[in-house]
Amino acid sequence: MYDYEVVDEKIIYFSQLPWKLVPFTFVLDPFAGEMKVWKNIEPIWLTATDINPSKPTIHKADASNLPFADNVFDAIWTDPPHLIRNDLKHWNKNYLKFGNYKNRKELEKLWPEWSTEFHRVTRPGANLMLKTVDGPDYRVLKVKDLEMFSDNWTLLDIFGSKSGAGWSKTTTIYSYWERK
Ligand SMILES: C[S@@+](CC[C@H](N)C(=O)[O-])C[C@H]1O[C@@H](n2cnc3c(N)ncnc32)[C@H](O)[C@@H]1O
Repeated sequence: MYDYEVVDEKIIYFSQLPWKLVPFTFVLDPFAGEMKVWKNIEPIWLTATDINPSKPTIHKADASNLPFADNVFDAIWTDPPHLIRNDLKHWNKNYLKFGNYKNRKELEKLWPEWSTEFHRVTRPGANLMLKTVDGPDYRVLKVKDLEMFSDNWTLLDIFGSKSGAGWSKTTTIYSYWERK
């Protein structure tokens, strides 16, 4: 169903993406982690939440039950969690820490919940940007899984960028959606 094109050989950070953001656009990142994708910029228009906040500027919240009223955000940009890596001997422990779920079934149950909750807290016509991964890695949200979001969101665009890590066979996929 989805097709994408590798448009850049570099990692593209959220802050460099071609979003049509205007001042006073309120953005939520519900899986903020360590804010690395934001390069620690933390703009005032960004609300960052995570189930396991890494710093005081990130509010603790479960993405299945966000502590926000309906229709308040103009956009969600986020990098959803994946499975725990089982190659625990990996040389770089940074690649291990964002896996929160033990099996794909557990995670697959949550994706539609998150899609619905993101729909609830955004205004009609709001944008969703998901940073996901495609390639042989079964632990991540892949392009074919994105269909789980299409009940609440219309896919506008999708493109990829090769992983910055030379050893990685994965492609980082950015998909843009509009709230139905
Ligand atoms: C891939 S990481 C995000 C990394 C982040 N983009 C960064 O640049 O540092 C996924 C994050 O989702 C969080 N997470 C997992 N399950 C969650 C849930 N149910 N609700 C909210 N956050 C959750 C994890 O704590 C983790 O920080």
